[in-house]
Amino acid sequence: MQRKRWLIVMALVVLLIAVGAAAMFATAQGGNAAVITAPAAGATVSGKVAIAGTATHSRFSYYKVEYKSGSNPAVLVDSMVHNTQVNSGALATWDSSKVPDGAYDLILTVVDTTGNFIQASLSVKLDNTTANRLAAAPRRGCGACHALADPKTGKYTLAYEGEERAAARGGEHPKLPWDTKYETCMTCHASAANGKGVAAPLSMRDIVHPAHIFSNTFGDRYNGSCFTCHNVSADGKYQVLVEKMDGNDKGVPNPAKIPIPGAVDPIPPK
Ligand code: HEC
Ligand code: HEC
Ligand code: HEC
Repeated sequence: MQRKRWLIVMALVVLLIAVGAAAMFATAQGGNAAVITAPAAGATVSGKVAIAGTATHSRFSYYKVEYKSGSNPAVLVDSMVHNTQVNSGALATWDSSKVPDGAYDLILTVVDTTGNFIQASLSVKLDNTTANRLAAAPRRGCGACHALADPKTGKYTLAYEGEERAAARGGEHPKLPWDTKYETCMTCHASAANGKGVAAPLSMRDIVHPAHIFSNTFGDRYNGSCFTCHNVSADGKYQVLVEKMDGNDKGVPNPAKIPIPGAVDPIPPK
C-alpha cells in the first residue's frame, strides 16, 4: 500500500515535469525566430534597402543584420546591433549606395543571453548602376555638367577638360580661364575644310562625340544621349545646347523659353 502510493506520487511528479518541460519548450520555440521577409530572396536591390522580418528570442540579447559577398567578411548593414526584438517589422536599412554592385547574402543573426544564436539568410543582387541611370533626370547643355566644382583644379569646366585631355596625350593646351565658354573653344575647334579644327589638331565634334558616347559616366551616371547636347531645329540642324537647359523631368524644354537659350547652330566648315 505504502509502495503503491509512492509510485503514484512519483508518476505524477514525472508527468508534471514532462508537461512543464514541454510547455517551456513550446514557449521557447514560439519565441525564437530569425526570419527575413523583405527583400525577397533573389531580388534586385539598390539605394536604401529596407530589411524586414522577425528577430525574437525568449532569452533575447540583440540581433544584427549583415551583408556578405563571396569569402569577404560579413559587414553590418547599418553599423549597429539592435537591442530590441522585432515581430514582423522593420529590422534595418542598408544604405547600399557606396557598396559595389554584385551578388550578396543578407544575414540576420539573433543572439541570446548565453551567446548562442539563430540565423536566417538570403541572396540578393545589388545593382545601383541601373537604378541610378533610370533615376537620373535628363541633363541638357554643356553647362549642365561642365561647371566649376573645384577652383584649384578647375574640375569639371570645359577649359579643365581641354587642359587635362591635351596633357594626357603629352601635349599642352593653350592656357584658358576656367569660365571659358563653348563659343571661345570653337574659335580654335570649329571644323576646318580639311577635317581638323580651324586652329587645333582636332575639331570639337571629333573629340566630344566618342568621348561622351563611349563614356560609362556619361551613359550610366547621367543617362546621356545625343539629346544631352543637341536640339534638332525646325530646319533640321543639329543645334548644340551650350548652356544648361531649363527642362522638365523628361528633358522637354520649358515652353516659356523658346527658342532655347544657348542653342547654337553648327558652324559650317571653313
Ligand atoms: C550629362 C553630362 C555632360 C554634358 C551635358 C556634357 N558633358 Fe562633356 N563630359 C561629360 C563626362 C562625364 C565626361 C568625361 C568622360 C569620361 O572621361 O568618361 C566629359 C568629357 C568632356 C570632354 C573631354 C573629352 C575627352 O577627350 O575626354 C570635353 C571636351 C567635353 N566633355 C565637352 C563637352 C561639351 C562641349 C559639351 C556640350 C556640347 C558637353 N561636354 C556636355 C559629361 C557631360
Ligand atoms: C587658342 C586655340 C584653342 C582654344 C581657344 C581651345 N583649344 Fe583645345 N586645343 C587647342 C590645341 C592647339 C590643342 C592641341 C594641344 C596639344 O596637344 O598640345 C587642343 C587640344 C584640345 C583637346 C585634346 C584633344 C585630344 O584628345 O588630343 C581638348 C579636349 C580640347 N582642346 C578642348 C578644348 C575646349 C573644351 C576648349 C574650350 C574651353 C578649348 N579646347 C579651347 C587649341 C585651342
Ligand atoms: C557632348 C555633346 C554631344 C553629344 C553627346 C553629341 N553631340 Fe553631336 N555635336 C556636338 C558638337 C559640339 C558638334 C559640333 C558643332 C559644330 O561644329 O559647330 C556636333 C555636331 C554634330 C553633327 C553635325 C552638325 C552639322 O551640321 O555640322 C551631327 C549630325 C551630330 N552632332 C549628331 C549627333 C548624334 C547623332 C549624336 C548621338 C549619337 C550626337 N551628335 C551626340 C556635341 C555632341
